[in-house]
Amino acid sequence: MNLNREANFLEPEFQILYPLVATQQNISCWVARGIANLIRHKAARGEMCVLGLATGATPLAVYRELVRLHKCEGLSFNNVITFNLDEYYGLSRNDANSYWQFMHRHLFNHIDIKSENINIPDGSVGLDDIEEYCDSYEAKMASVGGIDVQLLGIGRTGHIGFNEPGASVFSGTHLVGLAEQTRKDAAVDFGGIKNVPTLAITMGIKTILNASKIVLLAWGAKKASILQKALEGPIGPMVPASYLQVHQNVSIFIDHKAASCLSSVTSDIKN
Ligand code: F6R
Repeated sequence: MNLNREANFLEPEFQILYPLVATQQNISCWVARGIANLIRHKAARGEMCVLGLATGATPLAVYRELVRLHKCEGLSFNNVITFNLDEYYGLSRNDANSYWQFMHRHLFNHIDIKSENINIPDGSVGLDDIEEYCDSYEAKMASVGGIDVQLLGIGRTGHIGFNEPGASVFSGTHLVGLAEQTRKDAAVDFGGIKNVPTLAITMGIKTILNASKIVLLAWGAKKASILQKALEGPIGPMVPASYLQVHQNVSIFIDHKAASCLSSVTSDIKN
């Protein structure tokens, strides 16, 4: 993987980029520059750039670099519309653990994106209205032409977004139950598993696969085993991330620890 070459998210490809020496930090900066190039490319044509965003530890360095590019290199987010993957159900946007707060803390408060262009599922919608709400989230994505680049992390259950094992490939945005493992992984943030919501609103697998380009990031040994299943195992609902294998334009950026269980890694580090 040649980090000196500019990232180009306009060319379709399916690639697993497993750098031998590049760090999570280098790769994240490279991905951020790829996003910045796309934003600028679209701005030059008078077009909006639609980004699908994830929360969690995985994309933090990408967001830090995007903020730096805005502050130090004049990257504007004026032509950017964002849709977040998911939100805990039952949390208001003011809750410190809401993904609304997370995104504002790490990205939106530090860039010039218009607030009306930020879309994050609302975890406080009443149960009676949830279906209509989820349909409207999908409709809004469609009305702006769909997602240009979708950033993803992967959960230890194999979830993408909050599509846990058993997820349907035909699912749009919907209310889901969180797997026990996922709730355990979030327990630290919530001060104990009993405080972790049991439900979430998430884009579905179909929604994610509708994105023109998907960028999956994963760091560290704790993602190694599930990545092996997702990338080399059979495609199916028990490992929702395995559905990425059917998408034509996916880049998977993982560090060497996350890649440690893969039998077939492609490294163009030598090129
Ligand atoms: C977050 C999301 C999740 C995370 C995944 C990995 O919006 O949709 O799928 O990407 O749980 O979380 P981290 O990055 O904390 O390991």
